[in-house]
Amino acid sequence: MKKLLALVLVAIMALGMVQLAVAEAPIKVGVCIYKYDDNFMTLYRTELERYLKEKGCEVTVVDGKGDQNEQTNQVNAFIAEGVDVLIVNLVQSTSANAITDLAKAANIPVVYINREPSAEDMQAWEKICYVGADARQSGTMQGNLILDTPNKGDFKGDGVVDYVMIMGDPENIDAQYRTEYSIKALTDAGIKVNKLFEQRGDWAQEKGQELAATALAQFGDQIDVIFCNNDGMALGALQSIKAAGRTVGKDIYLVGVDALDEVVELVHAGEMTGTVLNDHIGQSHKAADVAIEVAGGAIPEKNYTVDYVMVK
Ligand code: GAL
Repeated sequence: MKKLLALVLVAIMALGMVQLAVAEAPIKVGVCIYKYDDNFMTLYRTELERYLKEKGCEVTVVDGKGDQNEQTNQVNAFIAEGVDVLIVNLVQSTSANAITDLAKAANIPVVYINREPSAEDMQAWEKICYVGADARQSGTMQGNLILDTPNKGDFKGDGVVDYVMIMGDPENIDAQYRTEYSIKALTDAGIKVNKLFEQRGDWAQEKGQELAATALAQFGDQIDVIFCNNDGMALGALQSIKAAGRTVGKDIYLVGVDALDEVVELVHAGEMTGTVLNDHIGQSHKAADVAIEVAGGAIPEKNYTVDYVMVK
């Protein structure tokens, strides 16, 4: 009888441990980054991974290397592995539907980050959502940084702000909106503008340097302002501005977005006009919190937006 009792007790304890183990099984998160070779997304993914681990999740992060096929394969691999939730920074925002279809077939929710899919694509399934920032706000802030300068961006005093625009990847809504809204802020304030040059630098410092050098060689002193869709390209542009013997704040203005540490220091030292904080900490924490909730069965809102902040 005693033996039987002991056996029953052991069985109950074992069952309890199994239940405990099941209850404590960590949430498995698969994170797809569009490419590792990107200043801002490096800060973002590092914080995202750190925070998810702090929250007790099991995390795997992969590099899409700027190739949508590669990323789609990675999504398939995560699904086959049985992750509980995906966090996806698309290589191409137009591929959102293809990724949503794969995830939906396996009933695995997706939190899209950084590269916003179209509003229509976001309606494809109730278990997908987007966490990011509204790039119109960052563009407007870039324009406001120029409006806040003593001559409102017009060094030559001829009543027109002659500008150069160095764009990110034009397929990315962040690049489109920053390009449009930075200038809109000026024209809305009644400022006349003249676009001298506009080309894509794909967010990369080397390309920012190259394009700014080309624009400076072609238009020289005519240029009042160089707008860069991000800080990486602005750092490159600054090298070319210096090489051309120009000085930010004295005869030219330069603005970026992201507020990389290096750029914030330059802004405070007066070597760059300003930047806009793209809050990778706020965005990555929100993305992780939402991922954990949806992995637990919650239905997300469609959009979670984190504010940009002007830095000057
Ligand atoms: C933007 C950011 C850029 C680049 C891009 C990638 O929000 O400002 O620097 O990281 O995302 O999609």
